[in-house]
Amino acid sequence: MAALRGAAPAAAPDSAQGSASARLPVAVLISGRGSNMQALVAAARDPRYPAQVALVVSNDPKAAGLAAAAAAGIATAVVPHRDFPSRIAFDEALDRTIRAAGCRLICLAGFMRLLTAGFVEAWRDRMINVHPSLLPSFKGLDTHARALAAGVKLTGCTVHFVRPAMDEGPIIAQAAVAIRPDDDADRLAARVLAAEHRLYPLALRLVAEGRVRIEGERAVVDAPAWPEAALLAPSAA
Ligand code: GAR
Repeated sequence: MAALRGAAPAAAPDSAQGSASARLPVAVLISGRGSNMQALVAAARDPRYPAQVALVVSNDPKAAGLAAAAAAGIATAVVPHRDFPSRIAFDEALDRTIRAAGCRLICLAGFMRLLTAGFVEAWRDRMINVHPSLLPSFKGLDTHARALAAGVKLTGCTVHFVRPAMDEGPIIAQAAVAIRPDDDADRLAARVLAAEHRLYPLALRLVAEGRVRIEGERAVVDAPAWPEAALLAPSAA
């Protein structure tokens, strides 16, 4: 049921953290365009980047990101959710595919299937997601239209560890984007997406370097630089 192209099997140790000698092998799960996946692939082209994209998986054989991944020389797999009688059966096939490729961390990047609690718990603290809002605000779909309707002046994106409840889990990193009076959802989405492409590679790097620990349900990040200034919107009279 799952078609795998070109992946090299490897051992799958427990820890998600990389070491100086080995880059962390990552599976990126997509359902569509895959621009965040491509941002991760681009970051990992640098041999000093602590993670490598070992596999790109889609639940949709028509996902445009699959061709982009293959063109970049990344192994791809399709696990078509329609082929499975239940969510559990689909998630089991997904799990097998990811483990067979030796991946130790999962990056959800526009993966539009809800995962079962069993799958999420099996990958607890080893699965991260990018979401186009400043969580915990605007979980779910149509985030930009809802941010505009609410009249908030700042929105953005979040990378977080995945928990069974949708768009919940310890927050690793966020980027804020100012909303302009003339924005519509598409214009806003484009600026937030550009921020996602900067944020996701940063967050994955922090995780792969072992700089993120979970205390309670908060992610504590050991990073060298934090902004001093607040981002004001509007910024001046
Ligand atoms: C991204 O904006 C991502 O944040 C969002 O889907 C888009 C995928 O774009 N994900 C979610 O809304 C998940 N809750 P991409 O395929 O070009 O990376």
